[in-house]
Amino acid sequence: MCGIVGYVGREGDARSFLFDGLKRLEYRGYDSAGIALAYRGTIAIQKSQGKLTVLQESLDLLPSGVPCGIGHTRWATHGRPTDANAHPHTDCQKVIATVHNGIIENFQELREELLANGHHFTSETDSEVIPHLLEAYGGTDDLVNAVRRAEERLRGAYAFLAISSRQPDIIVAVRRSSPLVVGIGEGVNYVASDISAFLTMTRRAQVLENGDLAVITPETVNISNVHGMPMLRPEMTIDWDIRKAERRGYAHFMLKEIMEQPDVWGDCLLGRIRDERVLVEELGLPLPHLGEIRRIHVVAAGTAYHAGLVGKALIERLARVPVDVSVASEFRYQDPVLEPGTVVLAISQSGETADTLASVYLAREQGVPTYAVVNTVGSTLARDSDYVAYTHAGPEIAVASTKAYTTQILVLTLLALALAERNGRARPDLVRALRRVPMLGQETLDGLNNIRAMAAELMRSRDVFYIGRGLDYALAMEGQLKIKEIAYIHAEAYAAGEMKHGTLALIEEGTPVVAVVTERTIARKTLSNILEVKARGAEVFGIIDAQMAHQFPVDHLLPVPVSDPLLAPVLAALPLQLLAYWTAVDRGRDVDQPRNLAKSVTVE
Ligand code: F6R
Repeated sequence: MCGIVGYVGREGDARSFLFDGLKRLEYRGYDSAGIALAYRGTIAIQKSQGKLTVLQESLDLLPSGVPCGIGHTRWATHGRPTDANAHPHTDCQKVIATVHNGIIENFQELREELLANGHHFTSETDSEVIPHLLEAYGGTDDLVNAVRRAEERLRGAYAFLAISSRQPDIIVAVRRSSPLVVGIGEGVNYVASDISAFLTMTRRAQVLENGDLAVITPETVNISNVHGMPMLRPEMTIDWDIRKAERRGYAHFMLKEIMEQPDVWGDCLLGRIRDERVLVEELGLPLPHLGEIRRIHVVAAGTAYHAGLVGKALIERLARVPVDVSVASEFRYQDPVLEPGTVVLAISQSGETADTLASVYLAREQGVPTYAVVNTVGSTLARDSDYVAYTHAGPEIAVASTKAYTTQILVLTLLALALAERNGRARPDLVRALRRVPMLGQETLDGLNNIRAMAAELMRSRDVFYIGRGLDYALAMEGQLKIKEIAYIHAEAYAAGEMKHGTLALIEEGTPVVAVVTERTIARKTLSNILEVKARGAEVFGIIDAQMAHQFPVDHLLPVPVSDPLLAPVLAALPLQLLAYWTAVDRGRDVDQPRNLAKSVTVE
């Protein structure tokens, strides 16, 4: 899960394009970065440990005006983040340079073979076997043929780009499980792990499929399989608003992505509701298929898994369709029982999470239909699932997921309402109320004036507990993940009624407890739990339905203007996200790029 990018043009400055492209891909990994240019019989390389700002300092050492090059931003898997392990890597003669995303599973064996044949390695990475293998197969003279031969030997899930100083007008790109998209320009072509890398240059793209090998020149893109059989990949036009992938004056992408949620929710709901009904076809589900769904098994990771938990509650309560929710990395090894009538519903922002994809392939093997709720258009999950509903959140750059999470919940709410209608339990009132959610979202954000002061209280905490019941428990789980990953504070979420079965022992004077209370019918039960922790000295931060807030004796209040409790999750997510955000800022954390993490987890 690194970011890779390439530029090959008749003319132009690959150096500046590659650096800009890497900036947009930095969310994929940021422990080292590098650029290689092919020109006049030489490979020029600059690479360094650390973020792109470090690479920027040595960028001038690369020649400008060179129209062929590749770049890489790394999230370390094999080998520590050091200058030597940073990509691009080269062969012994320094004729070939490669960048690689993913894992070469048989790299040990290949490395030993190459070492025995006299190759000299300079890094500890699995990636470095690629340029040496290309060299061994004659890549310094014929790069394309060498890539074909090397492809027969490499095992794993990966994508890589290769250039040669002797053929400085081509990039060879290979995709095997890790994403790769070609951008088509005029007299110049681009290739990257993700569309956002070249979206400022072109909106025309071709998504490579698994097993594709693309030979890219300034004028042409020839896609074939490893045996040279041509593969036709349709050209698509990307309609993402590039401004959505920029910070637009916000200090961090995360803050921008939190604040734009009311607008994004509008985009997500647009065209999917008519009068008081959900338009099922706009959720990517043909009507006859909706009728066949008897059970849903959600698979997802991290925040997307938490959205699945909210979805379970909504679908079961509204439609009475049973829903199981599994963490994808567990599901894939669980030998799950998938009965006829079950749909496997995969939720993912990136559409590239390795475990989620593996779960979908497992379902497919068992003959079960797959349905994806996904943000990234053209992603592997979107293409490899039977049915797809896009969340339309636009590019999410901050590593911590915010707007993708709330739009996943909105799509699941629409699905729950559609299934409810199918089951004779239509809720026109709720469909009507859903239209007002973007407006209530703005109201929620406008009402959070005191959140910075609360974050200032939280910032010195060692542990934080999040409690809630029902939907509020699912929200609490997302709240604790947010503060862990960006503020690096240890946090746990508990079903509020569970505290007294053990965890209450950890509550002492001043322990922060964030209580989420939007479930009106069980609010009094949560109130008892709040009183229990308060009696033991806890400092309680309440994220509470504004209509009930006055009944709760909390130390700090964040009211949420809830219309219907079933629509509260997206609204209550806003204060949870902002509380984590400001706490992280106060602790001086790198909010958009938290340590040890990366945006899309394309390795197991
Ligand atoms: C947390 C976060 C991760 C992702 C998880 C799944 O803020 O972003 O937990 O939710 O890695 O990623 P996707 O949704 O791309 O499958």
